[in-house]
Amino acid sequence: MFVNNGTGKEQSAGPFRRGSAHDFALQEGLWYNAPVARALGRAWIREFHRGRHQGGPTMDTSKASEASDDLFQGKLLRLAAAREEDAAHMARWSEDSGYMRGLDTDYARPRPEREFSPESYGQAAGPNSLEFRLRTLEDDRLVGFVALHTIEWNNRAAMLAIGIGEPDYRGKGYGTDALRLILRYAFDELNLERVGLDVIANNQAAIRAYERVGFRREGAMRRAVLRDGQAHDRLIMGILREEWSRGLA
Ligand SMILES: CC(C)(COP(=O)(O)OP(=O)(O)OC[C@H]1O[C@@H](n2cnc3c(N)ncnc32)[C@H](O)[C@@H]1OP(=O)(O)O)[C@@H](O)C(=O)NCCC(=O)NCCS
Repeated sequence: MFVNNGTGKEQSAGPFRRGSAHDFALQEGLWYNAPVARALGRAWIREFHRGRHQGGPTMDTSKASEASDDLFQGKLLRLAAAREEDAAHMARWSEDSGYMRGLDTDYARPRPEREFSPESYGQAAGPNSLEFRLRTLEDDRLVGFVALHTIEWNNRAAMLAIGIGEPDYRGKGYGTDALRLILRYAFDELNLERVGLDVIANNQAAIRAYERVGFRREGAMRRAVLRDGQAHDRLIMGILREEWSRGLA
């Protein structure tokens, strides 16, 4: 994959290309047994590596077949491209003020469908953002989005944003699944070193989900968000590649 880095020149998204399980193992400096690795894939190698860091190869190989080798597919969700028909759903989500207030620190407002069309997203996003739509594996239903934005290719760093827009799908593990998918994408495919985010300190669901997949609290912008006459801190969180690949995620 090539990206435009904003200078008008195209460059590779990183020095490594995602190749065979063998390339992956070499890149990560991992134990590698070709026939086994070919059979079990990258996910198994990573789990083996995590086990080693935690005191020995602990992965239950009977579960290896459960670990998806598909970069786009989690346990409940998959990363999907935008479709025209998504816009109506996303506009409907924007009419939920609680959802919009959790999403970011901007003033909440219902947004028209046109702001969610694939074209307007593509234009606004530019080369330093990647957004995926989240669709259920069970019935291909659109339930949210996840994005890497403000990608700094020189620093191998990006910011993360996520929303499970369908209220019935919150609090059921979909957010965690999406976070694991996007972190794997950020570190395995884009070869980033860091993913960061900020979150309003009263957003307990989001903070819990981020900590669950390995994000650490790094600091806070004090009293940065004013809502209903109350000031809230804006927490800064981040996860590094090494933390993620050690299995802390
Ligand atoms: C934040 C969000 C992405 C989390 O996704 P989710 O699918 O609801 O979360 P999960 O079901 O995967 O749960 C993750 C953890 O958060 C906890 N959690 C979920 N909802 C919670 C709530 N309302 N209050 C406290 N904890 C909550 C879960 O118990 C779980 O922790 P556990 O594993 O220790 O039990 C989702 O709720 C959302 O989109 N919210 C609205 C938009 C938003 O706030 N986006 C984040 C902007 S920074």
